[in-house]
Amino acid sequence: MSLILAFESSCDDTSVAILDTEYKVLANLISSQPEHVNYGGVLPELASRLHMKNIMRLSDLALTQANVSLGEIDAVAVSINPGLIGSLIVGLSFAKSLAWGLGKPLITVNHLLSHIFANYIDHPDLHPPFLALVVSGGHTELVHFKTDTDFDIVGKTLDDAAGETFDKAAKLMNLGFPGGPIIDKLSVGGNDKFVDLPYPLPQKDNFNFSYSGLKTAIRSYIKSQDPEVLAKHQKDIAASIQTAIVKPLINKSIRKAQELKINKILLAGGVAANNALRSGLVQKAKASNIQVYYPSLKLCMDNAAMVAAAAIPKFKAGLFAGLDVNANSIKGTRLL
Ligand code: KG4
Ligand code: ZN
Repeated sequence: MSLILAFESSCDDTSVAILDTEYKVLANLISSQPEHVNYGGVLPELASRLHMKNIMRLSDLALTQANVSLGEIDAVAVSINPGLIGSLIVGLSFAKSLAWGLGKPLITVNHLLSHIFANYIDHPDLHPPFLALVVSGGHTELVHFKTDTDFDIVGKTLDDAAGETFDKAAKLMNLGFPGGPIIDKLSVGGNDKFVDLPYPLPQKDNFNFSYSGLKTAIRSYIKSQDPEVLAKHQKDIAASIQTAIVKPLINKSIRKAQELKINKILLAGGVAANNALRSGLVQKAKASNIQVYYPSLKLCMDNAAMVAAAAIPKFKAGLFAGLDVNANSIKGTRLL
């Protein structure tokens, strides 16, 4: 068995993890950056500087917690795209230096693929074929995996992402950032039929998503309402927004899995933490004999354990990166 030291710094969380190649997590430390709260979103330059400030300290802590010395590490893994370029470069430069200094291989992974592979940590026996629904702050994609390395994107958002819609809605309602967890919590007990919101691309054979019209509808609704109504019905409005965001995700994932004759759907990305999405998908999938998998809550968020999980198949296959590899901010799951 080998040990992988992994780094995640693509957005506003610095994370360092140590996993063995059987997907056992020995350490998975995350340092998030509350500093961005004052800006209503992530400030890229500030994120890079905070990654630089924290990455060394977190690495030391992870090694201590795992009771592992640097000499025992067999490979260094890092996410290199997509993400904020300055943030990615901090993690990549640190990982490259360590790999070079230790004389160990460097493994680079795609951040979105690592969200998908996070499922292997909780379910090490899971393997393709499966359909993965990747729902994060910047991405909404349905990906058909035939093997760990052979996959096709079979549906994607034509404009905004599901997570972005949660964040925008919460901002319009003055609830704070990030909006997903806040709306998720607030929706409990709310009436999701209170506001009539659009269901985009309803055609049965259309597996793409669109959230820009929904964002506009949410904005128009909020701007047109009396502040008293908004305050009194906060829960109902949050529940209506949540259902409008997750309903197409649930319906289209199930329909695509049926069409492809696949009996496994995986949730991945920050929005995979959403309770209505998890329970709605499980409930609807049951009737079609489809099994739904999702990572535990901590593993839904950006973290380095998922980076190590995505690196394990590459480590076993000897797919290593050269020290001249670059980070890039290109969107999507396309690059392995
Ligand atoms: O994957 P992630 O941590 O970062 C990116 O790679 O983008 O996803 C962040 C997104 C944010 O939009 C956040 O609002 C959303 O995930 N999110 C949630 C929940 N927790 C996080 N959305 C809905 N319900 C949640 N419980
Ligand atoms: Zn992410």
